[in-house]
Amino acid sequence: MHIPDLKKARIRSDKKVLEKQIEYNYPASFLNKKYFLRTYGCQMNMHDSEEIRKYLELLGFQETTVLEESDLVVLNTCAIRENAHDKVFGYLGRCKHLKITKPDLIIALGGCMAQEQNVVKEIQEKHPYVDIVFGTHNISDLPKMLLEKKKSQEIEVYSIEGDIYEGIRYSRDSKICAWVNIMYGCDKFCTYCIVPYTRGKQRSRKLENIVNEVLELKKNGYKEVTLLGQNVNAYGKDLEENYNFKDLLEQVSKTGIERIRFVTSHPWDFTEEMIDCIRTHENIMPYIHLPLQSGSDRILKLMGRRYTKQEYLNLFKLIKEKIPNVSITTDIIVGFPNETEEDFLDTLDVVNTCQFDSAFTFIYSPREGTPASQIKDNVTMEEKESRLQRLNALVNDYSLKKNQLLVNKIVPVLILGENEKDKNKVYGYTDTMKLININGGKEFIGSIVPVKVLDAKSFSLDGEIVSEES
Ligand code: SAH
Ligand code: SF4
Ligand code: F3S
Repeated sequence: MHIPDLKKARIRSDKKVLEKQIEYNYPASFLNKKYFLRTYGCQMNMHDSEEIRKYLELLGFQETTVLEESDLVVLNTCAIRENAHDKVFGYLGRCKHLKITKPDLIIALGGCMAQEQNVVKEIQEKHPYVDIVFGTHNISDLPKMLLEKKKSQEIEVYSIEGDIYEGIRYSRDSKICAWVNIMYGCDKFCTYCIVPYTRGKQRSRKLENIVNEVLELKKNGYKEVTLLGQNVNAYGKDLEENYNFKDLLEQVSKTGIERIRFVTSHPWDFTEEMIDCIRTHENIMPYIHLPLQSGSDRILKLMGRRYTKQEYLNLFKLIKEKIPNVSITTDIIVGFPNETEEDFLDTLDVVNTCQFDSAFTFIYSPREGTPASQIKDNVTMEEKESRLQRLNALVNDYSLKKNQLLVNKIVPVLILGENEKDKNKVYGYTDTMKLININGGKEFIGSIVPVKVLDAKSFSLDGEIVSEES
């Protein structure tokens, strides 16, 4: 049994990234058994779930979307905020209940929560019905754990990340858009954030492996790739090779895949040559998610974000000047310990200046083991909630305004599929990452088509296809 130690995430010092190949010759011992997979958190976790799904399929499992039908439940968890945590424990309660009537049900918990020492302890002490716990560094151990499952609870979670696996196979959610990991972990250690502890230090994949994966995806008909990392702009900094995110973008662009996106960008590592590269390559989409977190220099410093309000604004301006139709979205945290009204007004000021296309907004949530969780806080929850509401009202106004600017314009849209609520419609995304619903157009699923925007809401657009030419 391996149990993670949060502090250990800090002490990995070797910069070498070694590669390993995964073995895939599992016996299909679970034929006719069903699995239920629930994913919480960010794209990183969703992509990990595509890997988990592949292993389960190789073992013979079939997916079900009905919890009660399942023989195996896998919860791929997120630890970013307390409520993410609570949701998982709430769901475990449901699984426990089901296990009373279905004693052979296997319950497995993976993802970022599994990397937290206190969570693992809590599961050991209070949730003995959870059969398997696996971490973010050993997803590929899940098949072995299922095949060899012992009678008692089995916990295999490593605090220190291992080598990078290449040639991972995925059962992908989409046949049109694919996620591609370019790096794992994060070295930034923002003081509020648990990710460097749950995902480990930054490890970049080799450029040629990423390019080969994109080429393979293109060969298989994929139209869009999203390069994934907690801080994509720092790509390569941990490698001995002398290349960076701009070089990677250039090489991925050369594969000729139709659309390239990337998340998440960190303002501190964003360089002008990266902006130029995005501007000059047509298949790199004009969309940047650029988390602000706070507009107050005092709070930014306490957060360990490494930029000031002015530096953020300068970068924002440069991006806007260089990439004419770019859309920029952001993440903002309100109620960091001891945030004053003045600090908060600084955040609103940046929102007013930047007029983001959209923003994810959060109330600060203390995470055990992070430096910020040690700070004594004098802001009441009531105050934090009121700030969140004020912020959301402003952010949503700008989202609507930005979307309205597109009405009557013709935009390129990659059509992804039928609209779930209205089968007579399809949905897709503009180059600037705006969700758009379109009447008819099923024959265009998987294609990029010009669409005239007819109407705008805060979170989506309506449009019609104007020609068959892309
Ligand atoms: N690597 C990305 C985002 C990682 S997590 C980046 O640095 O921007 C996604 C978002 O969750 C963060 O941008 C932040 O806004 C929010 N977040 C992270 N930790 C949080 C915490 N403890 N409380 C509230 N929000 C948090
Ligand atoms: Fe967390 Fe900061 Fe890393 Fe983003 S950059 S994952 S907020 S530590
Ligand atoms: Fe959550 Fe882990 Fe992603 S904590 S946001 S699932 S990296």
